[in-house]
Amino acid sequence: MNYQNTESLLKKYNQQQLLKYYDELSEEDKRTLLDDIEKVNFGVIKNIHKKSEVACGGKLEPCKATSLKDVEKNYEKYTQEGINLLNQNKVGAVLLAGGQGTRLGFSKPKGMFDIGETRSVSIFELLMQKVKSIAAKSKPFPLFIMTSTDNNADTVQFFKDNNYFGYPQGKIHFYIQDTEPACDLNGKIFLSAKNRVLLTPNGNGGWYSSLVNAGLGKVLEKEGVEWLNVFGVDNVLQKICDPAFIGATKLSGFASSAKVVKKCSPEEKVGVLCEQDGKPVIVEYFEMPEELAKQRDSDGELSYRFGVILNYLFRVDMLNKTVKEKLPYHLAVKALAHIEDGKLVKPEKPNGYKFETLVVDMIKFMGSCLAYEVVREKEFAPVKNKSGIDSVDTARALLKLNGINI
Ligand code: UTP
Repeated sequence: MNYQNTESLLKKYNQQQLLKYYDELSEEDKRTLLDDIEKVNFGVIKNIHKKSEVACGGKLEPCKATSLKDVEKNYEKYTQEGINLLNQNKVGAVLLAGGQGTRLGFSKPKGMFDIGETRSVSIFELLMQKVKSIAAKSKPFPLFIMTSTDNNADTVQFFKDNNYFGYPQGKIHFYIQDTEPACDLNGKIFLSAKNRVLLTPNGNGGWYSSLVNAGLGKVLEKEGVEWLNVFGVDNVLQKICDPAFIGATKLSGFASSAKVVKKCSPEEKVGVLCEQDGKPVIVEYFEMPEELAKQRDSDGELSYRFGVILNYLFRVDMLNKTVKEKLPYHLAVKALAHIEDGKLVKPEKPNGYKFETLVVDMIKFMGSCLAYEVVREKEFAPVKNKSGIDSVDTARALLKLNGINI
Protein backbone atom coordinates (compact mmCIF):
# COMPACT_ATOMS: atom_id res chain seq x y z
CA MET A 1 0.00 0.00 0.00
CA ASN A 2 1.33 3.47 -0.82
CA TYR A 3 1.34 6.48 1.50
CA GLN A 4 -1.91 7.99 0.16
CA ASN A 5 -3.89 4.77 0.54
CA THR A 6 -2.46 4.21 4.00
CA GLU A 7 -3.38 7.72 5.04
CA SER A 8 -6.98 7.35 3.93
CA LEU A 9 -7.24 3.92 5.60
CA LEU A 10 -6.01 5.42 8.87
CA LYS A 11 -8.42 8.32 8.54
CA LYS A 12 -11.29 5.85 8.21
CA TYR A 13 -10.31 4.21 11.52
CA ASN A 14 -9.19 7.43 13.18
CA GLN A 15 -5.64 6.08 13.68
CA GLN A 16 -3.58 8.80 11.93
CA GLN A 17 -1.12 8.90 14.87
CA LEU A 18 0.60 5.85 13.32
CA LEU A 19 2.11 8.11 10.65
CA LYS A 20 3.31 10.74 13.13
CA TYR A 21 7.02 10.09 12.50
CA TYR A 22 6.73 9.09 8.83
CA ASP A 23 8.57 12.13 7.47
CA GLU A 24 11.59 11.45 9.73
CA LEU A 25 12.07 7.88 8.49
CA SER A 26 14.50 6.45 5.93
CA GLU A 27 12.98 5.00 2.75
CA GLU A 28 13.40 1.47 4.13
CA ASP A 29 11.77 2.34 7.46
CA LYS A 30 8.90 4.05 5.64
CA ARG A 31 8.27 0.80 3.73
CA THR A 32 8.37 -1.25 6.97
CA LEU A 33 5.81 1.03 8.59
CA LEU A 34 3.43 0.98 5.60
CA ASP A 35 3.73 -2.82 5.46
CA ASP A 36 2.99 -3.09 9.20
CA ILE A 37 -0.09 -0.88 8.87
CA GLU A 38 -1.38 -2.87 5.91
CA LYS A 39 -1.42 -6.02 8.06
CA VAL A 40 -3.26 -4.46 11.02
CA ASN A 41 -6.71 -5.81 11.86
CA PHE A 42 -8.29 -2.44 12.70
CA GLY A 43 -11.69 -4.04 13.35
CA VAL A 44 -10.37 -5.51 16.62
CA ILE A 45 -10.26 -2.10 18.31
CA LYS A 46 -14.05 -1.75 18.53
CA ASN A 47 -13.96 -4.51 21.17
CA ILE A 48 -12.89 -1.98 23.79
CA HIS A 49 -16.52 -0.82 23.88
CA LYS A 50 -17.98 -4.32 24.23
CA LYS A 51 -19.00 -6.11 27.40
CA SER A 52 -17.77 -9.66 28.05
CA GLU A 53 -19.80 -11.96 25.84
CA VAL A 54 -19.12 -15.32 27.44
CA ALA A 55 -21.53 -15.35 30.36
CA CYS A 56 -24.29 -13.66 28.37
CA GLY A 57 -26.78 -15.85 26.54
CA GLY A 58 -28.85 -18.86 27.56
CA LYS A 59 -29.40 -20.72 30.78
CA LEU A 60 -26.35 -22.30 32.40
CA GLU A 61 -26.48 -25.86 33.70
CA PRO A 62 -23.86 -28.11 35.26
CA CYS A 63 -22.20 -30.57 32.89
CA LYS A 64 -22.02 -34.32 33.35
CA ALA A 65 -18.60 -35.93 33.47
CA THR A 66 -16.76 -39.18 33.06
CA SER A 67 -16.02 -39.44 36.76
CA LEU A 68 -12.96 -40.93 38.43
CA LYS A 69 -15.07 -44.05 39.11
CA ASP A 70 -16.05 -44.38 35.45
CA VAL A 71 -12.42 -43.97 34.42
CA GLU A 72 -11.26 -46.59 36.91
CA LYS A 73 -13.88 -49.07 35.71
CA ASN A 74 -13.08 -48.63 32.02
CA TYR A 75 -9.39 -47.80 32.29
CA GLU A 76 -8.07 -50.76 30.27
CA LYS A 77 -10.62 -50.31 27.50
CA TYR A 78 -9.96 -46.56 27.20
CA THR A 79 -6.18 -47.02 27.32
CA GLN A 80 -6.20 -49.69 24.62
CA GLU A 81 -8.33 -47.51 22.35
CA GLY A 82 -5.99 -44.56 22.92
CA ILE A 83 -2.86 -46.61 22.23
CA ASN A 84 -4.43 -47.90 19.00
CA LEU A 85 -5.07 -44.33 17.83
CA LEU A 86 -1.53 -43.27 18.75
CA ASN A 87 -0.12 -46.26 16.89
CA GLN A 88 -2.13 -45.27 13.83
CA ASN A 89 -0.58 -41.73 13.93
CA LYS A 90 -4.02 -40.27 14.56
CA VAL A 91 -3.04 -38.07 17.50
CA GLY A 92 -0.73 -35.07 17.80
CA ALA A 93 0.02 -32.68 20.65
CA VAL A 94 0.14 -28.89 20.80
CA LEU A 95 2.14 -27.12 23.50
CA LEU A 96 0.92 -23.58 24.13
CA ALA A 97 4.09 -21.68 24.96
CA GLY A 98 3.36 -18.22 23.57
CA GLY A 99 2.38 -16.61 26.88
CA GLN A 100 4.37 -13.87 28.53
CA GLY A 101 4.35 -15.41 32.00
CA THR A 102 4.25 -11.98 33.63
CA ARG A 103 3.09 -13.33 37.00
CA LEU A 104 6.13 -15.58 37.29
CA GLY A 105 8.37 -12.62 36.49
CA PHE A 106 10.94 -14.74 34.62
CA SER A 107 12.53 -12.92 31.67
CA LYS A 108 12.96 -16.03 29.48
CA PRO A 109 10.20 -18.33 28.11
CA LYS A 110 8.36 -19.97 31.03
CA GLY A 111 9.34 -23.45 29.83
CA MET A 112 13.01 -22.57 30.43
CA PHE A 113 12.36 -21.93 34.11
CA ASP A 114 14.50 -24.20 36.30
CA ILE A 115 12.08 -25.87 38.70
CA GLY A 116 14.74 -28.15 40.21
CA GLU A 117 15.77 -28.11 43.86
CA THR A 118 18.65 -30.55 44.02
CA ARG A 119 19.37 -30.58 40.29
CA SER A 120 18.75 -28.38 37.30
CA VAL A 121 15.54 -29.32 35.49
CA SER A 122 13.50 -27.02 33.28
CA ILE A 123 9.74 -27.09 32.83
CA PHE A 124 10.30 -28.01 29.16
CA GLU A 125 12.38 -30.99 30.26
CA LEU A 126 9.64 -32.24 32.60
CA LEU A 127 7.03 -31.90 29.86
CA MET A 128 9.24 -33.65 27.31
CA GLN A 129 9.73 -36.55 29.73
CA LYS A 130 5.94 -36.96 29.74
CA VAL A 131 5.85 -36.82 25.95
CA LYS A 132 8.58 -39.46 25.69
CA SER A 133 6.96 -41.77 28.23
CA ILE A 134 3.81 -42.03 26.09
CA ALA A 135 5.74 -42.22 22.82
CA ALA A 136 7.65 -45.17 24.31
CA LYS A 137 4.36 -47.03 24.83
CA SER A 138 3.18 -46.33 21.28
CA LYS A 139 5.27 -44.36 18.76
CA PRO A 140 6.56 -40.77 18.53
CA PHE A 141 3.70 -38.42 17.71
CA PRO A 142 3.95 -34.94 16.16
CA LEU A 143 4.45 -32.20 18.72
CA PHE A 144 3.55 -28.65 17.69
CA ILE A 145 5.02 -25.91 19.86
CA MET A 146 3.37 -22.51 19.66
CA THR A 147 5.66 -19.63 20.59
CA SER A 148 5.36 -15.86 20.22
CA THR A 149 7.43 -13.33 18.27
CA ASP A 150 9.06 -12.40 21.59
CA ASN A 151 10.05 -15.85 22.83
CA ASN A 152 10.42 -17.95 19.67
CA ALA A 153 14.18 -17.61 19.18
CA ASP A 154 14.97 -18.47 22.83
CA THR A 155 12.59 -21.44 22.81
CA VAL A 156 13.91 -22.94 19.58
CA GLN A 157 17.53 -22.46 20.72
CA PHE A 158 16.80 -24.08 24.10
CA PHE A 159 15.37 -27.20 22.45
CA LYS A 160 18.38 -27.32 20.13
CA ASP A 161 20.86 -26.88 23.01
CA ASN A 162 19.14 -29.74 24.84
CA ASN A 163 19.20 -31.98 21.79
CA TYR A 164 15.38 -31.85 21.64
CA PHE A 165 15.33 -33.70 24.96
CA GLY A 166 15.92 -36.95 23.08
CA TYR A 167 12.70 -36.69 21.04
CA PRO A 168 12.92 -37.12 17.24
CA GLN A 169 13.56 -33.62 15.92
CA GLY A 170 11.51 -34.27 12.79
CA LYS A 171 8.42 -34.73 14.96
CA ILE A 172 8.73 -31.27 16.55
CA HIS A 173 7.20 -28.31 14.73
CA PHE A 174 7.62 -24.80 16.15
CA TYR A 175 5.33 -22.02 15.01
CA ILE A 176 4.81 -18.41 16.03
CA GLN A 177 1.35 -17.33 17.07
CA ASP A 178 -0.40 -14.50 15.24
CA THR A 179 -0.62 -11.02 16.70
CA GLU A 180 -3.13 -8.22 17.12
CA PRO A 181 -2.42 -4.49 17.53
CA ALA A 182 -2.35 -3.07 21.06
CA CYS A 183 -3.82 0.33 21.87
CA ASP A 184 -4.15 2.94 24.61
CA LEU A 185 -7.23 3.16 26.83
CA ASN A 186 -8.97 5.31 24.19
CA GLY A 187 -8.39 2.84 21.38
CA LYS A 188 -5.44 4.57 19.70
CA ILE A 189 -3.00 1.96 18.40
CA PHE A 190 0.55 2.30 19.76
CA LEU A 191 3.84 2.34 17.91
CA SER A 192 6.61 0.13 19.32
CA ALA A 193 9.21 2.09 17.31
CA LYS A 194 8.85 5.07 15.01
CA ASN A 195 8.46 2.65 12.10
CA ARG A 196 6.70 -0.28 13.82
CA VAL A 197 3.13 -0.86 14.97
CA LEU A 198 2.89 -2.42 18.45
CA LEU A 199 1.65 -5.97 17.86
CA THR A 200 1.10 -8.43 20.73
CA PRO A 201 0.31 -12.18 20.82
CA ASN A 202 -3.38 -12.85 20.16
CA GLY A 203 -4.02 -15.15 23.13
CA ASN A 204 -4.07 -18.93 23.39
CA GLY A 205 -7.37 -19.15 21.45
CA GLY A 206 -5.37 -18.39 18.31
CA TRP A 207 -3.51 -21.71 18.50
CA TYR A 208 -5.27 -23.50 15.64
CA SER A 209 -5.65 -20.60 13.21
CA SER A 210 -1.99 -19.70 13.81
CA LEU A 211 -0.97 -23.32 13.20
CA VAL A 212 -2.86 -23.32 9.90
CA ASN A 213 -1.53 -19.86 8.95
CA ALA A 214 2.00 -21.16 9.60
CA GLY A 215 1.40 -23.85 6.93
CA LEU A 216 1.36 -26.75 9.41
CA GLY A 217 -2.07 -27.98 8.31
CA LYS A 218 -0.05 -29.89 5.70
CA VAL A 219 1.75 -31.85 8.43
CA LEU A 220 -1.59 -32.82 9.99
CA GLU A 221 -2.81 -34.02 6.61
CA LYS A 222 0.41 -35.85 5.74
CA GLU A 223 0.55 -37.66 9.08
CA GLY A 224 -3.21 -38.31 9.09
CA VAL A 225 -3.71 -36.62 12.47
CA GLU A 226 -7.37 -36.70 13.56
CA TRP A 227 -7.03 -35.49 17.16
CA LEU A 228 -4.96 -32.79 18.82
CA ASN A 229 -4.15 -32.75 22.53
CA VAL A 230 -3.67 -29.10 23.46
CA PHE A 231 -1.94 -28.27 26.73
CA GLY A 232 -0.42 -25.30 28.54
CA VAL A 233 3.25 -24.91 29.36
CA ASP A 234 2.80 -24.38 33.07
CA ASN A 235 1.18 -27.54 34.45
CA VAL A 236 4.25 -29.60 35.35
CA LEU A 237 2.28 -32.68 36.43
CA GLN A 238 -0.03 -33.11 33.48
CA LYS A 239 -0.12 -36.14 31.22
CA ILE A 240 0.36 -35.46 27.54
CA CYS A 241 -1.47 -37.60 24.97
CA ASP A 242 -2.81 -39.68 27.85
CA PRO A 243 -4.07 -42.86 26.12
CA ALA A 244 -7.05 -43.35 28.50
CA PHE A 245 -8.18 -39.75 27.91
CA ILE A 246 -7.85 -40.18 24.14
CA GLY A 247 -9.68 -43.52 24.20
CA ALA A 248 -12.55 -42.26 26.39
CA THR A 249 -13.01 -39.25 24.11
CA LYS A 250 -13.03 -41.30 20.93
CA LEU A 251 -15.48 -43.86 22.37
CA SER A 252 -17.79 -41.08 23.61
CA GLY A 253 -18.34 -39.89 20.02
CA PHE A 254 -17.80 -36.29 21.18
CA ALA A 255 -15.83 -33.76 19.12
CA SER A 256 -13.74 -32.51 22.04
CA SER A 257 -12.90 -33.23 25.64
CA ALA A 258 -11.41 -31.46 28.62
CA LYS A 259 -9.55 -32.81 31.61
CA VAL A 260 -11.26 -31.49 34.70
CA VAL A 261 -10.68 -31.56 38.45
CA LYS A 262 -13.21 -31.04 41.20
CA LYS A 263 -13.01 -27.43 42.35
CA CYS A 264 -11.64 -27.20 45.87
CA SER A 265 -13.92 -24.27 46.76
CA PRO A 266 -16.55 -22.08 45.07
CA GLU A 267 -13.91 -19.32 44.90
CA GLU A 268 -11.18 -21.32 43.18
CA LYS A 269 -9.93 -19.39 40.15
CA VAL A 270 -10.48 -21.93 37.39
CA GLY A 271 -12.87 -21.93 34.44
CA VAL A 272 -15.81 -24.30 34.90
CA LEU A 273 -17.16 -26.62 32.24
CA CYS A 274 -20.95 -26.15 32.01
CA GLU A 275 -23.77 -26.49 29.51
CA GLN A 276 -25.58 -23.54 28.00
CA ASP A 277 -28.63 -24.26 25.85
CA GLY A 278 -27.42 -27.83 25.53
CA LYS A 279 -23.96 -26.81 24.27
CA PRO A 280 -20.73 -27.16 26.22
CA VAL A 281 -19.31 -23.90 27.47
CA ILE A 282 -16.49 -22.96 29.80
CA VAL A 283 -17.34 -20.11 32.12
CA GLU A 284 -14.35 -18.26 33.53
CA TYR A 285 -14.30 -17.84 37.32
CA PHE A 286 -14.76 -14.08 37.08
CA GLU A 287 -17.81 -14.48 34.87
CA MET A 288 -19.56 -17.16 36.96
CA PRO A 289 -22.59 -15.80 38.87
CA GLU A 290 -21.79 -16.14 42.59
CA GLU A 291 -25.02 -18.00 43.45
CA LEU A 292 -24.22 -20.65 40.82
CA ALA A 293 -20.60 -20.97 41.94
CA LYS A 294 -21.88 -21.69 45.48
CA GLN A 295 -24.83 -23.92 44.53
CA ARG A 296 -24.62 -27.46 45.96
CA ASP A 297 -26.30 -30.79 45.10
CA SER A 298 -28.22 -32.79 47.72
CA ASP A 299 -25.03 -34.76 48.52
CA GLY A 300 -23.21 -31.52 49.39
CA GLU A 301 -21.02 -31.43 46.27
CA LEU A 302 -20.72 -28.17 44.31
CA SER A 303 -23.16 -28.36 41.37
CA TYR A 304 -20.74 -26.50 39.08
CA ARG A 305 -17.72 -28.45 40.21
CA PHE A 306 -15.64 -29.35 37.19
CA GLY A 307 -12.74 -26.94 36.73
CA VAL A 308 -10.65 -27.10 33.55
CA ILE A 309 -6.86 -27.50 33.69
CA LEU A 310 -5.92 -26.45 30.14
CA ASN A 311 -5.61 -29.95 28.74
CA TYR A 312 -8.01 -30.59 25.87
CA LEU A 313 -8.58 -32.89 22.94
CA PHE A 314 -9.99 -31.47 19.73
CA ARG A 315 -11.15 -33.39 16.66
CA VAL A 316 -9.32 -31.91 13.68
CA ASP A 317 -12.23 -32.10 11.22
CA MET A 318 -14.36 -30.02 13.60
CA LEU A 319 -11.51 -27.55 14.07
CA ASN A 320 -11.35 -27.13 10.31
CA LYS A 321 -15.08 -26.44 10.19
CA THR A 322 -14.96 -23.93 13.01
CA VAL A 323 -11.61 -22.22 12.44
CA LYS A 324 -13.33 -19.28 10.78
CA GLU A 325 -15.86 -18.87 13.60
CA LYS A 326 -15.12 -15.64 15.35
CA LEU A 327 -13.97 -16.25 18.88
CA PRO A 328 -14.79 -13.34 21.20
CA TYR A 329 -11.92 -11.04 22.06
CA HIS A 330 -11.04 -10.56 25.70
CA LEU A 331 -9.40 -7.33 26.74
CA ALA A 332 -6.24 -7.61 28.80
CA VAL A 333 -5.34 -4.34 30.50
CA LYS A 334 -1.53 -4.17 30.47
CA ALA A 335 1.44 -1.86 30.94
CA LEU A 336 2.53 -1.50 27.31
CA ALA A 337 5.88 -0.02 26.24
CA HIS A 338 5.39 2.36 23.31
CA ILE A 339 6.69 5.47 21.53
CA GLU A 340 5.62 8.78 22.98
CA ASP A 341 7.05 12.16 21.95
CA GLY A 342 9.61 10.31 19.88
CA LYS A 343 10.93 8.17 22.77
CA LEU A 344 10.29 4.65 24.04
CA VAL A 345 8.39 4.77 27.34
CA LYS A 346 7.94 1.78 29.65
CA PRO A 347 5.03 2.50 31.99
CA GLU A 348 4.81 0.88 35.42
CA LYS A 349 1.02 0.94 35.45
CA PRO A 350 -1.45 -0.45 32.89
CA ASN A 351 -1.91 2.06 30.09
CA GLY A 352 -3.67 0.12 27.36
CA TYR A 353 -5.27 -3.00 25.96
CA LYS A 354 -4.11 -6.23 24.37
CA PHE A 355 -6.69 -8.30 22.47
CA GLU A 356 -6.76 -12.01 23.16
CA THR A 357 -8.93 -14.94 22.18
CA LEU A 358 -9.01 -17.89 24.58
CA VAL A 359 -8.91 -21.62 24.05
CA VAL A 360 -11.83 -21.98 26.54
CA ASP A 361 -14.11 -20.24 24.03
CA MET A 362 -13.38 -22.84 21.34
CA ILE A 363 -15.28 -25.52 23.25
CA LYS A 364 -18.75 -24.27 22.39
CA PHE A 365 -17.93 -24.21 18.68
CA MET A 366 -17.07 -27.91 18.90
CA GLY A 367 -20.71 -28.71 19.75
CA SER A 368 -19.86 -31.46 22.24
CA CYS A 369 -17.24 -31.87 24.95
CA LEU A 370 -16.54 -34.76 27.28
CA ALA A 371 -15.58 -33.70 30.80
CA TYR A 372 -12.96 -36.24 31.91
CA GLU A 373 -12.19 -36.14 35.60
CA VAL A 374 -8.63 -36.60 36.87
CA VAL A 375 -7.08 -36.67 40.33
CA ARG A 376 -5.98 -33.13 41.14
CA GLU A 377 -2.89 -34.09 43.18
CA LYS A 378 -1.66 -36.33 40.37
CA GLU A 379 -2.26 -34.13 37.33
CA PHE A 380 -2.56 -30.49 38.29
CA ALA A 381 0.44 -28.44 39.41
CA PRO A 382 0.31 -25.06 37.67
CA VAL A 383 3.27 -22.70 37.88
CA LYS A 384 1.68 -19.27 37.62
CA ASN A 385 3.24 -17.25 40.46
CA LYS A 386 6.63 -16.99 42.16
CA SER A 387 5.17 -17.96 45.54
CA GLY A 388 1.80 -18.57 47.18
CA ILE A 389 -1.09 -20.19 45.30
CA ASP A 390 -0.28 -22.00 42.03
CA SER A 391 3.38 -21.18 42.37
CA VAL A 392 6.85 -22.61 42.01
CA ASP A 393 6.61 -23.71 45.68
CA THR A 394 3.27 -25.54 45.35
CA ALA A 395 4.34 -27.18 42.08
CA ARG A 396 7.62 -28.40 43.63
CA ALA A 397 5.74 -29.90 46.57
CA LEU A 398 3.36 -31.73 44.22
CA LEU A 399 6.19 -33.01 42.02
CA LYS A 400 7.88 -34.49 45.11
CA LEU A 401 4.59 -35.94 46.34
CA ASN A 402 4.41 -37.80 43.02
CA GLY A 403 7.93 -39.15 43.42
CA ILE A 404 9.43 -36.99 40.69
CA ASN A 405 13.09 -36.27 41.31
CA ILE A 406 13.73 -32.55 41.18
P1 UTP B 1 -1.74 -17.71 30.98
O1 UTP B 1 -3.16 -17.34 30.94
O2 UTP B 1 -1.21 -18.25 32.27
O3 UTP B 1 -0.88 -16.46 30.50
O4 UTP B 1 -1.49 -18.76 29.82
P2 UTP B 1 0.68 -16.22 30.52
O5 UTP B 1 0.92 -15.11 29.54
O6 UTP B 1 1.46 -17.48 30.27
O7 UTP B 1 1.01 -15.76 32.00
P3 UTP B 1 0.68 -14.39 32.78
O8 UTP B 1 -0.82 -14.31 32.84
O9 UTP B 1 1.31 -13.27 32.01
O10 UTP B 1 1.31 -14.61 34.13
C1 UTP B 1 -1.98 -20.07 29.84
C2 UTP B 1 -1.29 -20.84 28.74
O11 UTP B 1 -1.57 -20.26 27.46
C3 UTP B 1 -0.35 -19.92 26.80
C4 UTP B 1 0.68 -19.79 27.91
O12 UTP B 1 1.99 -19.98 27.40
C5 UTP B 1 0.24 -20.88 28.87
O13 UTP B 1 0.65 -22.14 28.43
N1 UTP B 1 -0.54 -18.67 26.04
C6 UTP B 1 -1.09 -17.58 26.64
C7 UTP B 1 -0.14 -18.62 24.74
O14 UTP B 1 0.39 -19.62 24.21
N2 UTP B 1 -0.33 -17.46 24.04
C8 UTP B 1 -0.88 -16.36 24.58
O15 UTP B 1 -1.02 -15.33 23.88
C9 UTP B 1 -1.28 -16.42 25.92
